[in-house]
Order: sequence, then structure tokens, then C-alpha cells
Amino acid sequence: MAIDRSLSNVERTFQWDDVIVSKTDLTGKITYANDVFLGISGYTEEELLGAPHSILRHPAMPRCVFKFLWDRIALGHEVFAYVINRAKNGDHYWVFAHVTPCYDQTGKMVGYHSNRRVPKPEAIATVKPLYETLLGIENSAADRKQGVEQSFAALVKTIGDLGFDSYDRLVMTISR
Ligand SMILES: Cc1cc2nc3c(=O)[nH]c(=O)nc-3n(C[C@H](O)[C@H](O)[C@H](O)COP(=O)(O)O)c2cc1C
Repeated sequence: MAIDRSLSNVERTFQWDDVIVSKTDLTGKITYANDVFLGISGYTEEELLGAPHSILRHPAMPRCVFKFLWDRIALGHEVFAYVINRAKNGDHYWVFAHVTPCYDQTGKMVGYHSNRRVPKPEAIATVKPLYETLLGIENSAADRKQGVEQSFAALVKTIGDLGFDSYDRLVMTISR
């Protein structure tokens, strides 16, 4: 695979009691970022507010995991996920993310909220090879749409083979 020169290969970490917080509108545009988020991502508040959350997207992250995330939160469900993010300078950092929908006083969904904590190293060791396999499927497909469909099917199958009924259950089990 070609070397991605926008990546530094340097891993960033944060404290076990830190929480990286962001809020978005319904399209995933960032409406709030806390100081921990600014610190670890290397972006200023001005750069993040109004930007799509994909500003952090790391090429090692399979698209099918984001499909799972969007499918679930759009229906009002919470989602737990392991995500590798790209900092502004090309460093990366792994997070254990919890994403939930936000509602206004009338009960209308108005956006999303995400809290991220330090993941357990054992959980990342489980997730990394799975993500590499999924990414391989996505990158060898004829186009992006087919790649996501095929890797999503592989994700569902792998989860089933491991004895879980959803990605969330797998994530919750390996995070304990
Ligand atoms: C509340 C919330 C938080 C998100 N956090 C991240 C994140 O930390 N990193 C990331 O790459 N994508 C995150 N996403 C998903 C992005 O919106 C996007 O789907 C993903 O980066 C894939 O980008 P793409 O659809 O342009 O390929 C988040 C979405 C929401 C709604």
C-alpha cells in the first residue's frame, strides 16, 4: 500500500479521566468542542466549529463502521464504537466513543453528542485486525458504495461468528 505522507505515524494519548466531548447538528457538522478535544486534535475552536466531523477521519478507519454509527443514531439509538482519529498534524489517537442523539423540548431530534474516553489496549488489539480486514475489503471493491456494502456485510458476519448480535455488543464486551 502507498505511504500516506499526511500521516506522521505518531500516536497521541490522553488521560484516563479525560473526556473528549463534541456535539454536532443532524448532518454531523461540529457545534461544540471541549478543551480536551481541541488539545488532542490540534485544531482551534474556530477551525472545528461548523466543520464536518469527518475532519478527523483517519484512513485506517473503515467506512462501514461509520455507516453502522449513522444508521443507528439516526433511528435514535446510542452507539459505542472504537475509532482511530487523525489529529491536524497527522498524528493519530484511538478513542472509545459513545454517541447519542440530542432532542429539543418538543422531543424533536436536533443533533448528536459524543463522549470519548481512553480505550483499553486489549480492546484496540481486538479491533485493529478486524478494521484492517474491513478496510481491505473496502479498498479492493470496484467503487466506494460497493466497498461499504461488502465490508458492512463482512462486519455483520464477523460479529455473528464471534457470537454477538451487533457491533455494539462486541464493543461493550471487549471494553470490560
Ligand atoms: C456526534 C458524532 C461524532 C463523530 N465523531 C467522529 C470522530 O471522532 N471521528 C470520525 O472520523 N468521524 C466521526 N463521526 C462520523 C463522521 O460524521 C463521518 O461519518 C466519518 O468521519 C466518515 O466520513 P465520510 O462519511 O466523509 O467518509 C462522528 C459523527 C457524529 C454524529
